[in-house]
Amino acid sequence: MAPYRVGVIGCGGIGIQHATGLVGLDNAHLVAACDLNPKAVAAFQDHWAGTWDAIAPYADYRQMLAEQQLDVLTIATPDDCHAEPTVDAARAGVKAIFCEKPLATSLDDARRMQRAVAEHGVVFSVDHTRRFKPIWRKLRKLVAAGAIGELQYVVGTLSGKRGSLFRNGTHLIDALCYLAGARPAWVFAELEDGYQDHTAYRGDGGRTPSLEPSASGYIHFANGVRAFYTGTSKKTAGSKWRFELVGSQGQILIDKDDAELLRDGQREKIEPPEAPLSGIPAGVRELVEILDRGGATSSPIAAAIDVVEVIFGFIESQRRGNVRVELPLSEEG
Ligand SMILES: NC(=O)c1ccc[n+]([C@@H]2O[C@H](COP(=O)([O-])OP(=O)(O)OC[C@H]3O[C@@H](n4cnc5c(N)ncnc54)[C@H](O)[C@@H]3O)[C@@H](O)[C@H]2O)c1
Repeated sequence: MAPYRVGVIGCGGIGIQHATGLVGLDNAHLVAACDLNPKAVAAFQDHWAGTWDAIAPYADYRQMLAEQQLDVLTIATPDDCHAEPTVDAARAGVKAIFCEKPLATSLDDARRMQRAVAEHGVVFSVDHTRRFKPIWRKLRKLVAAGAIGELQYVVGTLSGKRGSLFRNGTHLIDALCYLAGARPAWVFAELEDGYQDHTAYRGDGGRTPSLEPSASGYIHFANGVRAFYTGTSKKTAGSKWRFELVGSQGQILIDKDDAELLRDGQREKIEPPEAPLSGIPAGVRELVEILDRGGATSSPIAAAIDVVEVIFGFIESQRRGNVRVELPLSEEG
């Protein structure tokens, strides 16, 4: 069988990381790359010279889709430019798509993407990167297997200038959902100071994080687990990314990607399992493997829609005076 034909849209740093997941694969070749900025495409071609010498350059992704018969597409465009390429690629016959987070910056876009993907039978994976890191997979398994007894609550903390909801907040919310092991049922929240009147997405695709707020929020999951989202765009002392998982018989503390299990008076480091790849390249590699051999993605579109629901749930809670908001917000839930 001929190798899968892969194209990338958005040739910045993240687009380059996407392609890293294809290195060494006999069954997938990078054949095309697209960016509005010709210098970005040229830099992308230079970066991969020697690995793939015939990457066709494009400025218009629709032209790339029309000419390249792609099997696989990876999308690394700004946050508010994930929906159109997804819908167009699904219609053009692309079989598998790896899409950057956040899935979308509106619920309408998220739903349009979900419909297009379902209608055309596309394998679709969202880059909520922890789902492709061995340590986070292990943590989820440990929690589900009862390593800390029955999970009661999770506190997740995110701070710093990329701490806004659509920028890295999407990672924090996804991690809370991933660890809670259930769908979010309802939320309430307060947006950070200075954004009290923020009622809709007003960002520019992630380039200027200060256009969007972070939040302090609460998520109640369908299985009864409670999660506290503690976010700020301000500088804070100590680690910017940490989690506390509290169960009936123990706790897990996570600081970046380091984790410790506290149980029966003991404190023990949780070691990440060995894996050939981790993070973004592992996500792209997984997608190609699914195309080849079947199976389910670790980061499905339904999970990413839950994250968009929580973000807009927080914003809606603020709009209504910090009240409880039932999810899903959209009727199609
Ligand atoms: N998973 C992660 O940990 C992680 C980390 C950083 C960024 N991201 C996400 O990756 C995406 C890209 O981020 P980045 O930092 O590489 O951004 P970037 O701005 O460096 O690169 C985006 C590229 O997309 C191009 N582009 C924009 N609109 C286009 C269009 N319609 N057609 C073709 N090209 C277009 C731009 O010219 C630019 O070169 C964002 O959604 C961001 O949130 C994810």
